[in-house]
Amino acid sequence: MANNEDLFKKIISHAKEYGFVFQSSEIYDGLSAVYDYGQNGSELKKNIKEYWWKSMVQYHENIVGLDSAIFMHPTIWKASGHVDAFNDPMIDNKDSKKRYRADVLVEDYLAKIETKIEKEVKKAVKRFGESFDQEQFVATNPRVLVNKEKIENIKNRLYPAMDNNDLAEIKKIIEDLEIACPVSGSRSWTKVRQFNLMFSTQMGSLSEDANEIFLRPETAQGIFVNYLNVQKSGRMKLPFGIAQIGKAFRNEIVARQFIFRMREFEQMEMQFFVKPGEEIKWYEYWKEARMKWHLSLGIPKSKFRFHNHEKLAHYANAAADIEFEFPFGFKELEGIHSRTDFDLGAHQKFSGKKLQYFDPEINESYVPYVVETSIGLDRTFLAILSHAYSEEKLEDGSERVIMKIPPVLAPVKVAILPLMKKDELPKKAREIMDVLKVDHMCQYEEKDAIGRRYRRHDAIGTPYCITVDHQTLEDQTVTIRDRDTMKQERIAIEKISGIIAERLKK
Ligand code: GAP
Repeated sequence: MANNEDLFKKIISHAKEYGFVFQSSEIYDGLSAVYDYGQNGSELKKNIKEYWWKSMVQYHENIVGLDSAIFMHPTIWKASGHVDAFNDPMIDNKDSKKRYRADVLVEDYLAKIETKIEKEVKKAVKRFGESFDQEQFVATNPRVLVNKEKIENIKNRLYPAMDNNDLAEIKKIIEDLEIACPVSGSRSWTKVRQFNLMFSTQMGSLSEDANEIFLRPETAQGIFVNYLNVQKSGRMKLPFGIAQIGKAFRNEIVARQFIFRMREFEQMEMQFFVKPGEEIKWYEYWKEARMKWHLSLGIPKSKFRFHNHEKLAHYANAAADIEFEFPFGFKELEGIHSRTDFDLGAHQKFSGKKLQYFDPEINESYVPYVVETSIGLDRTFLAILSHAYSEEKLEDGSERVIMKIPPVLAPVKVAILPLMKKDELPKKAREIMDVLKVDHMCQYEEKDAIGRRYRRHDAIGTPYCITVDHQTLEDQTVTIRDRDTMKQERIAIEKISGIIAERLKK
């Protein structure tokens, strides 16, 4: 298999060639960091949404859904802190003219030191074998200790500088670490400036009446401002959750890595309202539950890890990311945040409306605390795609590209393929298609040799191909081919539906 950078390029071009993801406005040379999902991509995306919704809403009696508007009252963003604090510090390189997030330049530098530590550990594991005590090694090895100290020192400067909005200090850190522009290799940097990530637009047709409103940068606030509506209309008792899937918009400074960081993207968020004091228990619960969800898709555990936040946002008392190993390294896929009563408290203050819960057990009203799970739909899509992409050499020396997408998420579940375009085979295949398409996303294809059709379906991740041949006309059986093993079995037409439904459950 190619190295990771090549692999990532292959995944991106495969995604385009097979109708998963297209650059937005491509015929006009594209729009930076905005993407469209094609015929297979939109199906995969829809299936991921359904899988998430089922596990969060359908399987939890105390979690309900919501579909709030993208446009909201502008004061919401004042209350949530986004108007004043949803900023990223940016810096430009004077030679390459490339713009970077200043904190990310430093974080990338830290990641390089961490990789050095990991390499030391790996070397030691090899050297000492079973008797290796990793904890002791990390606590005593001089090279590891020096690197750990470096990391600590940098963090002790970066985090307070970020908290205090000390842009000069952030620039100084970049200079002191001699961080160079990855494109030009130059260390000639502009000042660090703050950049608000929200897109704004005007509501109202006359400019003097116009009101600046924002495209929501997260779906969560739509949930908070509807907390009381849902609680009262649904007679919800604490603890309970509200889940929502929807678009979010951020004017990202550096948009890179394909659909990893986009300016228009989708989030799947759930806010879980709990009694104050119980939030850490629920935070731990959701951390574990969300990790289980990821693993339920059959991707190995080694591809995921938790990253517990040391530096907490002002509204959080605990936070962690679930990171996934993308082709460009471990990066955030989902966040689990214990957000205290910050959001409801702020909306209560700014709106002047009480956002409380009357707890019949203690006969008291209070503002609930909130534990949030927030996952990017597009990032989940990219995780699935990059894990699924695989190139295989077959016994006959030929090669195939196969997308090992979990069957439950596959864009097309079943391909119906008459072996030839004659002798009533298409007619029979169409009859089977008409029955199966009621329950499953199916595709009928009669063009090209059967081998080429199998390859096409391997490439979009279709888990099952049904082939109708001359024997079908005689004994009402077909072959069913498994995408991963390429094994074919003969089964009765009347059993196809049940067999596929059963296998898709796995
Ligand atoms: N309500 C909390 C919140 O929005 P976040 O960590 O800023 O938290 C949550 O975003 C998730 O949304 C991230 O873990 C990521 O998967 C996704 N996300 C954030 N920014 C994104 C972007 N520019 N493009 C694609 N996905 C993004």
